[in-house]
Amino acid sequence: AITMAARRGKLIVFEGCDRSGKSTQCAMLTDRLRKDGHKVEQLKFPDRTTSIGIMINNYLANKEDQSDEVIHLLFSANRWEQMQKMSKLLLGGTHLVIDRYAYSGIAYSAAKGMDLHWCRQPDVGLIKPDRVIYMTLTGDKASERADFGGERYEKKEFQAKVEKVFEQLHDPTYWQVVNGDGSINEVHEDVFKIVSEVISTDCGPLNKLWT
Ligand code: TYD
Ligand code: MG
Repeated sequence: AITMAARRGKLIVFEGCDRSGKSTQCAMLTDRLRKDGHKVEQLKFPDRTTSIGIMINNYLANKEDQSDEVIHLLFSANRWEQMQKMSKLLLGGTHLVIDRYAYSGIAYSAAKGMDLHWCRQPDVGLIKPDRVIYMTLTGDKASERADFGGERYEKKEFQAKVEKVFEQLHDPTYWQVVNGDGSINEVHEDVFKIVSEVISTDCGPLNKLWT
């Protein structure tokens, strides 16, 4: 029988457009799991603290230009540089709650008109999430909340294109849609229910994405 100690941590990824409430929900979920006595760490992509992350930050802040291909590969490299640390934590029994992952990488690049198949390749082989929580907002809510900053991509028309690609990437075998229209606490309860189930299930060894 598998003991609790031998059980690996679970990789929970939040995805969705800008302003869908991902960061708030990641923080609330992490706090809740920690209070319940779980080992849990929160991460986010892009991770702007690394050398690659600084290049990404400059691009997003419109301080530096990159070709579409180069910025796409930098976002992917920014994930790859965390894989060793992530796999160590997961195998040591720590759950990871992650704000964005490879799906954002593909959705934002493909929304510019880049080839979806090409966009997927650099992320093939990353650790596969145990669950993707895809946060949606219905039309009105999105524009009410659209207090976008000045970063690249933070524009309504572009976000609509991103959403279309997310819908194409949706894989019902491990994605779950959470509607973010409700109050922060209501949405949190929906998220917590999903994650509690994932945490209490034995998901077997770590898997690789899209292999
Ligand atoms: P975001 O999560 O919004 O950062 P912050 O919470 O600091 O605002 O990410 C910044 C932007 O980067 C967002 O518009 C989505 C985009 N993005 C990509 O284009 N490709 C990627 O691989 C990732 C992870 C994000
Ligand atoms: Mg943002």
